[in-house]
Amino acid sequence: MPLHIYPTAEDVLRHLADYFCELVGQALAARGRFVVALSGGSSPKQLYELLASPAYRDKISWRQVYFFFGDERYVPPTDAESNYLMAKTALLAPLGILPEQVFAVDTSLPPAEAAQAYARTLEHFFAGEEARFDLVLLGLGDDAHTASLFPYTSVLHDASIGAKEVFLEDKHVFRITLTAPLLNQARAVAFLVYGAGKAAAVERVLTGKRDPDQFPAQLIAPAGELHWYLDSAAAALLPDS
Ligand code: 6PG
Repeated sequence: MPLHIYPTAEDVLRHLADYFCELVGQALAARGRFVVALSGGSSPKQLYELLASPAYRDKISWRQVYFFFGDERYVPPTDAESNYLMAKTALLAPLGILPEQVFAVDTSLPPAEAAQAYARTLEHFFAGEEARFDLVLLGLGDDAHTASLFPYTSVLHDASIGAKEVFLEDKHVFRITLTAPLLNQARAVAFLVYGAGKAAAVERVLTGKRDPDQFPAQLIAPAGELHWYLDSAAAALLPDS
């Protein structure tokens, strides 16, 4: 499980953008398309902006890239909390990505139906083959959640290859998340984590006792590659840091 630790967030973002480009090249050569599950929250916004910048945009044949979401907040696609809106603003719109390349969660449906519909969308896209993302991008919450796999939620034990609704009691909100087994079918998973506020969660997930109920990011053990892209601040509590 390679840990890529760099002094600043900018260094981390640049190296992850390079890795993204490398994976796109491999996927297009092998299968003629690149299928990515984007992460949400605030950390990846700068990565998306970098990929859409003149420094990277022309390195990728974007017409052959297909975008899913590892999770989504249960809000309209126009809501400031929407992971879709963040990705659209930072990446999809600046690159002129076509609607048929983007698969967002339909949050106009009731939560359970939205999750079921997303699972059907995934099944249809992968046309009966194993649903394998070329890359899953993930973040890490300071409570060690990833995607919307939160501590002590039933979805952590869901064996389905798909998407589920999650009700977060403390926040009194719904989320829609891809399940861990689906995420783990990926050819590659990359965590992007930076900032001192994440150091304790990083240390617990990577070196603490194995307890996926408490530290859901420990569920992520892909069939393919697993990379952690960290800045020094987020890695500060790791041994030998
Ligand atoms: C979300 C994300 C979530 C995120 C972590 C870290 O919808 O919020 O998918 O898993 O990656 O909460 O979020 P930040 O990057 O904002 O710290």
